[in-house]
Amino acid sequence: MTSNSPTFSLAARVLHWLMAVMILSMLFIGVGMVASVSPRHDWLLRIHKPLGMAILLLAVVRLVVRVRNPPPALPADLPLLQKLAALASHWLLYALMFALPLVGWAMLSAGGYPVMLSESIRLPAIVPASPFAFAVLRHAHAWLALLLFLTFLAHMSAALYHGLIRRDGVLSSMTGYRPAPPPPRTDADPLQEVPEQPGH
Ligand code: HEM
Ligand code: HEM
Repeated sequence: MTSNSPTFSLAARVLHWLMAVMILSMLFIGVGMVASVSPRHDWLLRIHKPLGMAILLLAVVRLVVRVRNPPPALPADLPLLQKLAALASHWLLYALMFALPLVGWAMLSAGGYPVMLSESIRLPAIVPASPFAFAVLRHAHAWLALLLFLTFLAHMSAALYHGLIRRDGVLSSMTGYRPAPPPPRTDADPLQEVPEQPGH
């Protein structure tokens, strides 16, 4: 990719950065929730549930945007293994953006808890109440969150490798920031061509 290569669509970029902030907040809120036995637990859970459902809704919008606006191609000289790793990690991130909220919702349904988004908005149960299903889904939610965090770390490291080491335009295809190209060289550059002085 050169500095003139195409970027992701504006909608894709806005969704990417908005959801990155939301998802990272959810990971920290989740860990804060289970690490706290104080009244803050209820307060964090009241943020965790609607924010998680908002992520699920935005993931649907994002998938539609992705299908309608194919992403820019990766640099042609990128080794095949890295191209495959990028593709696999992007689809894993998409899968987790759907799986985590759905498993959270299913887990509360299986536990027989009301899934409240606010004081008055209650979502229907998506699985029948079952202590066994609750136990499995509760563990799945925590392990999937850990997988999301590890995938995010690998993804961010790869993005920084592209932006700081390869400087191949992949990072700027998502930030949208393109540095101005250097001015073209002219033949009559006064610093390059110093005329010979007579007598020297
Ligand atoms: C992208 C979305 C989500 C992420 C990243 C996320 C992340 C987390 C994390 C990291 C934990 C702590 C896990 C542990 O170590 O045990 C957690 C717990 C939990 N999450 Fe989520 N979650 C998401 C969506 C949801 C949704 C949509 C719901 C419910 C509608 C939900 C309900 C819960 C509940 C009930 C707990 C356990 C709280 C407790 O045991 O005190 N999560 N979540
Ligand atoms: C939890 C946080 C994040 C998630 C879930 C996430 C998810 C994704 C996904 C699914 C893609 C594929 C393109 C798409 O369809 O949207 C992508 C692309 C990209 N992301 Fe992230 N991202 C996160 C955080 C970050 C951060 C912190 C950075 C920068 C340091 C970053 C840089 C990029 C870049 C440069 C691309 C384009 C890569 C390419 O064309 O192969 N992302 N991201």
